[in-house]
Amino acid sequence: MPGRPTADEHRHPLDDVRTPSDRQKADPLSLLHVMTLVAAEQQTMNWYMNVGNRAMEPLARGLYLEIAQNEEEHVTHYESLLDPTASWFERDVMHQYNECYLYYSFRQQEPDPRIKQLWELHLNMEIEQLRLACEMMRKYEKRDPESFLPSELPEPVKFQENKDYIRQVLTSQVDLTGDKTEFVPKADLPQDHRYFQY
Ligand SMILES: [Fe+2]
Ligand SMILES: [Fe+2]
Repeated sequence: MPGRPTADEHRHPLDDVRTPSDRQKADPLSLLHVMTLVAAEQQTMNWYMNVGNRAMEPLARGLYLEIAQNEEEHVTHYESLLDPTASWFERDVMHQYNECYLYYSFRQQEPDPRIKQLWELHLNMEIEQLRLACEMMRKYEKRDPESFLPSELPEPVKFQENKDYIRQVLTSQVDLTGDKTEFVPKADLPQDHRYFQY
């Protein structure tokens, strides 16, 4: 199923930043999902930037560079959803907590015992990193991480088929682009909007 043409994806930087979440009010699971999305986009950006120079054909190199720029926009887009008023220590605690949450999810659903052990190993490393991040917060900020962490891990991420969901999102959103912090149909933008110039 065709997606949004790459040429249409580019947005002016002013139209890439969304309204940040308020971490006091947001569902903790939403904050974790945002961090996972930032990580995925960051990794995708790094991938296109790293392999873009392997192709001999200039057309292929240009394409990888162009997609890398799209992915950089995605990193900015998702990262801007995080609460900018959180301290660096709180960000670190949440970051480690999310890694625990993800590896725990993988571990819970992994049927292969050998791979399950790998997830468990990584989960154990992240638990220690979380412990250290919490310790630093208590030491340097005199704050208790329990005051904002959920009382127990949210329901694990599920690995399941999502083709229908993706198709539904494409059908309903393929014509959208960004205008400041909002998503709007491209057709609604005035002809002199910076989107077209960009
Ligand atoms: Fe992306
Ligand atoms: Fe970690």
